[in-house]
Amino acid sequence: MKTYKIALIPGDGIGQEVMGPARGVLDEVAALCGFQLDYEHFPWGCDYYLANGRMMDADALERMKAFDALYLGAVGDPARVPDHVSLRELLIAIRQGYDQYINLRPVRLLEGIPGPLRSASIDMVCVRENSEGEYAGLGGRFKKGTADEVATQTAVFTRKGVERVLRYAFELARSRPRKQLASATKSNACQHSMVFWDEVALEIGKEYPDVKLTSYHVDALAARMITHPHTLDVIVASNLFGDILTDLGGALQGSLGLPASANLDPEKRFPSMFEPVHGSAPDIAGKGIANPMAAVWAASMMMDHLGEPAAAGILLAALEAVARGGQVRTADLGGTHNTTEMADALRSEARKIHAASRRVSASDPR
Ligand code: NAI
Ligand code: MG
Repeated sequence: MKTYKIALIPGDGIGQEVMGPARGVLDEVAALCGFQLDYEHFPWGCDYYLANGRMMDADALERMKAFDALYLGAVGDPARVPDHVSLRELLIAIRQGYDQYINLRPVRLLEGIPGPLRSASIDMVCVRENSEGEYAGLGGRFKKGTADEVATQTAVFTRKGVERVLRYAFELARSRPRKQLASATKSNACQHSMVFWDEVALEIGKEYPDVKLTSYHVDALAARMITHPHTLDVIVASNLFGDILTDLGGALQGSLGLPASANLDPEKRFPSMFEPVHGSAPDIAGKGIANPMAAVWAASMMMDHLGEPAAAGILLAALEAVARGGQVRTADLGGTHNTTEMADALRSEARKIHAASRRVSASDPR
């Protein structure tokens, strides 16, 4: 049987709580589709840091190279470990170490789950630059703790980095019916980095005459996501801008318990990493009530990346069916079901969808 090797990093807080149930849904769908997933569990995260002084082992990137994909929950335990340590030394270390330069985040309202807006047609994808920009990590602090203290955080925009993310976004826009690309800029205030970003967008755009490119200042784009979400299709943004816009996107979807994120090395030199957009949610951690839908959506993106579109489709259809059904709702969606009950509902929908697809193919005269 075809087997994929998956590095499982549950991380902290609700990351640990959603990964088991989400994995159960994924394993069920894999079995239905005739392949299996062979997981190795890595205990990295804030507990590991407190015990060992590091977020992950020194040879972590070397060891995980052998895997087909990484499936991550969430990291962060702000009461015990500073967020810049937990995020930079694990998540960002993997993204940058494996040059996962695309962070793909669909923002789609599922039928049956009301978002906060009147508009029901929200179907965008954010292509976030994931390897440099504002999160490059350059800068420093000087005269720390004195009245003359200075802190710098330098954003880095390279021609290679900007060209490749824009080209990916244009390709994605070309593959979608509306063929529209919104580029998030701030060239009125950032006269070096964002003017460069805009120039490269126009240059690459010449290769894609069929795609309509519009540049929006990121603040106006944030407003547009709320006032005119139906006018947005593919969004391309720098690391920081994309980070902010996609939490807004999650809110538009009705809950941060829904959106998923794929950290991709499109050239497949390194494994890609799949995770929910949300963090470790300390406010609800330990209660068993976190919504596992984002983690399952991330699993669907992982299956797409591994070349298992049938499994990806069943996972997404199961999410849609539970959303449409309206019976099973975790607390973030206004209900009382817990993490396990939501995962059980997704498994049961997945089985039904698979059985129905077999009945259709059995009656297909071809
Ligand atoms: P968060 O995403 O953890 O939580 C924001 C709000 O959304 C909270 O009220 C939380 O209860 C709710 N929420 C999030 N996911 C949910 C789910 N699946 N089901 C139900 N409710 C959900 O963001 P926050 O509070 O800013 O960060 C908490 C920690 O997570 C910090 O340490 C932060 O650095 C880390 N973080 C890690 C990320 C990652 O590992 N990819 C991403 C974002 C934050
Ligand atoms: Mg974020």
